[in-house]
Amino acid sequence: MSSYLDLTIEGAPPAPSCINDSKPVTVPFVRAQKGKEKLTMLTAYDYPTARLLDESGIDMLLIGDSVATVLYGEDNTLAVTMEDMLRHVKAVSRGTRRALVIADMPFMSYQVSIEQALTNAGRLLKEAGAHAIKLEGGEEMADTIRALTRIGIPVVAHIGLTPQSIRAEGAYRMYGKSPEEQQMLLDAARAVERAGAFCVVLECVKAGVARDITKALEIPTIGIGSGTSCDGQVLVTQDLVGLTLGKVPKFVMPVASLKDDLRQAVQTYISRTKSIPAQATMEKMEIKPHASSH
Ligand code: KIV
Repeated sequence: MSSYLDLTIEGAPPAPSCINDSKPVTVPFVRAQKGKEKLTMLTAYDYPTARLLDESGIDMLLIGDSVATVLYGEDNTLAVTMEDMLRHVKAVSRGTRRALVIADMPFMSYQVSIEQALTNAGRLLKEAGAHAIKLEGGEEMADTIRALTRIGIPVVAHIGLTPQSIRAEGAYRMYGKSPEEQQMLLDAARAVERAGAFCVVLECVKAGVARDITKALEIPTIGIGSGTSCDGQVLVTQDLVGLTLGKVPKFVMPVASLKDDLRQAVQTYISRTKSIPAQATMEKMEIKPHASSH
């Protein structure tokens, strides 16, 4: 079967044939889903997670800069580098057959100049195998989005709570409470659509405002903490499956508790290992060692 993977990652082994064989998700497919079946997006930072989510039928995999907080234990997303992202995007691309692979642009990898944005976005597609990039910002990012889309780099925009602006905002919060902010959000959504983004993430936008934006746009909206009216939903996978150690946002509704399963599995391993008698005891009791490791 043909997929993007056949022609992208230099030196990377093709994804194993046992993984999802249905038609790859493309940018035109995502656009065409507007107002139809809801789109699904989850974060992935590594090969096994990408494979498992892809095999399960997820539409889009986001290598979010949330890798900083989720995997590296940072307080925010600011420290992520292009080298970090390239490594994680490569791993996810290797494990993906069907899903659209979207790479987050790290803080200060696209804000300096359009040239910088084109160079770094190009690296994520060319060297790491991403199919599209995501960047934060509204109207102020319109020229950058236009320049990227003009040369064939698909862009997912991201408005509302934009974690890379944490130093300016001071705290994470809900957006769209005041009429002024509602208008600003609608203007931002329209600006990124006009500039060529093929979908837009709405993070922590009041549900009613997210609904109005979704109605006003021709491109799909993907919500996180923004109610159910968006054309799709995205979550951090670790939040969804109960692997997050810190606070999980209220809107998440975890569907598993893998943290507890992992603790339980490790405790089982520890007790099983500790229950093996010491060598001297075994010899005294004439117990033969087991052939396999337990
Ligand atoms: O970095 C990330 O994981 C994100 C999603 C939460 C939308 O931007």
